[in-house]
Amino acid sequence: MTDQAFAAASATPEIPGKPTSASRTTLSHIMTHNDTNLLGTVHGGVIMKLVDDAAGAVAGRHSGGPAVTASMDEMVFLEPVRVGDLVHVKAQVNWTGRTSMEVGVRVLAERWNESAPATQVGSAYLVFAAVDAEGRPRPVPPVIPETERDKRRYQEAQIRRTHRLARRRAIRELREKRAAEGFED
Ligand SMILES: CC(C)(COP(=O)(O)OP(=O)(O)OC[C@H]1O[C@@H](n2cnc3c(N)ncnc32)[C@H](O)[C@@H]1OP(=O)(O)O)[C@@H](O)C(=O)NCCC(=O)NCCS
Repeated sequence: MTDQAFAAASATPEIPGKPTSASRTTLSHIMTHNDTNLLGTVHGGVIMKLVDDAAGAVAGRHSGGPAVTASMDEMVFLEPVRVGDLVHVKAQVNWTGRTSMEVGVRVLAERWNESAPATQVGSAYLVFAAVDAEGRPRPVPPVIPETERDKRRYQEAQIRRTHRLARRRAIRELREKRAAEGFED
C-alpha cells in the first residue's frame, strides 16, 4: 500500500492526520509481591491493567481527548512475569476508523536477576472509541503510518477489524433468528 493509498483510506479526511510516532507510549512498572497469583508469578490481570492503561494513554494522545476501551482481543501471555521484573508496556495506534482506533501493545520484561535484554512476554490489540463530554463517539484524526512496520500493522489491523465486525454481525443475526423462532435464552 502506498502513502497515497493510506491517506485515501482515511475515514475522516476532514481532520489533519497524525503520525504513529506522535502518540507512541511506553509505560514501565516494577512488579512487586502485591502483583502475584497463587503460583508466585505475576497475575495476568495485573498485566492486562497495564496494557489497558498504556493503550488508553496512546488513544487519548492520538485523539486529543478522552477515549474509552471498546474491546480487547488477542491478549497473549508468552512467558511468566516475576516479582522484581521491570515490565515495559509499549503501545501505538495501528489503525484509525471514523471514531475508533486500534492500539497494538507489546509487553516486555527485564528480568531483575539477568543481564539479558528485555524479552517479550505478551501482546494485545485493543479498540478505543474517542468520546465527547457526553460519552458519544467523536471523530479521530487519521493515523499516518510512517515505517514499513507501521504500514504492515495498519494492514493487519484492517484484517482484524473486518473479522471483528463480521463476527459481531453473525452473532447478532443468530440471536435475532433464535428469538424469532421463540427461543428465550
Ligand atoms: C464504545 C462505545 C463508545 C461505542 O458506542 P456506540 O454507541 O456503540 O457507538 P458506535 O457503534 O458508533 O461505535 C463507535 C466506534 O467504536 C467501534 N466499536 C464499538 N464497539 C466495538 C467493539 N466491540 N469492537 C470493536 N469496535 C467497536 C465502532 O466500530 C465505531 O468505530 P468507527 O466509528 O471507527 O467505525 C460505547 O459502547 C461505550 O461507551 N462502551 C463503554 C466503554 C467503557 O466504559 N469502557 C471501559 C470499560 S470499564
